[in-house]
Amino acid sequence: MKTSNPVAENTPQAPLRVRQLSHGFKTPDGSTVTIFDKLDFCVGHGEIVSIVGRSGAGKSTLFNLISGLLTPQSGEISVGRRPDGGPGRIAYMLQKDLMMPWRTVLQNALLGIELYRKVRPDDIARARQMLARYGLGAVADAYPHSLSGGMRQRVALTRTLLVDPTLVLLDEPFSALDYETRLALEDDIIALRAQSGTSVVLVTHDIEEAIAMSDRVILLGGRPARIEDQVLVELTTHGPRNAVSAREAPEFRGYHARVWNGLRGNVTSRDPQDLAQSNTLAGAMHD
Ligand SMILES: Nc1ncnc2c1ncn2[C@@H]1O[C@H](COP(=O)(O)OP(=O)(O)OP(=O)(O)O)[C@@H](O)[C@H]1O
Ligand SMILES: [Mg+2]
Repeated sequence: MKTSNPVAENTPQAPLRVRQLSHGFKTPDGSTVTIFDKLDFCVGHGEIVSIVGRSGAGKSTLFNLISGLLTPQSGEISVGRRPDGGPGRIAYMLQKDLMMPWRTVLQNALLGIELYRKVRPDDIARARQMLARYGLGAVADAYPHSLSGGMRQRVALTRTLLVDPTLVLLDEPFSALDYETRLALEDDIIALRAQSGTSVVLVTHDIEEAIAMSDRVILLGGRPARIEDQVLVELTTHGPRNAVSAREAPEFRGYHARVWNGLRGNVTSRDPQDLAQSNTLAGAMHD
């Protein structure tokens, strides 16, 4: 089965549109380090995009800007509406899991909902169901200090997904998980997109994970950070694409080599079709 790419629509309706984004930080000596200088980037409906880049490239900063935790120095970030016309919603799973120690696992999972409306009984039922699905049913009423790092990450993921977002930002969501759980959660994210058309942007240091999960892998690098390469991932899988079938696809190694080389500062083997598409995207940003 050949998977096809939803090409990111660069329209005001796109789930996420970042235009001419610039931001920098003050250093202790008073000078400014520019992290982004007129960055353009958009995410299509139901698209899964991975961002890879060296430590310090600016990946978390980009998420902090998109989510509104940081205010950009200039540029525009817009979140598209739902297909029914309702406002779009971003859910952000931070790199740190940020559990509140005085709240139970269930209460931590419900925190995202609580931030924008009153919790309803059906939310509690959904939260318990999702926690059980992630192997956390037995600890739903326990406090976070008794959980392992991987369990805490799964609570944080539950909290993120429960808010019924149109766009999910995941900053290294699976880094503390064992391989088997990691693959299961990768499948959950892929299924989420299929079921509800949610768009996902994922930061990961794991190239395999980036390729297996994504329609597009973006390589962020340099200072100021720019999109150094953009790989459209098309995989021929046996049956539906999932975390395992994707890794077994014949094209997988080729994509892996390209991203790996890119991370080492060596962007070479560009597929002409991919390049044409990414150029189209970049060009369309300046309409
Ligand atoms: N609040 C801040 N004040 C000053 N500098 C910051 C701040 N936040 C981030 N930076 C700097 O901005 C750069 C980008 O940091 P960021 O955390 O976005 O990188 P990253 O790509 O997420 O790295 P990692 O892969 O290690 O998580 C780094 O040089 C970092 O030191
Ligand atoms: Mg980071």
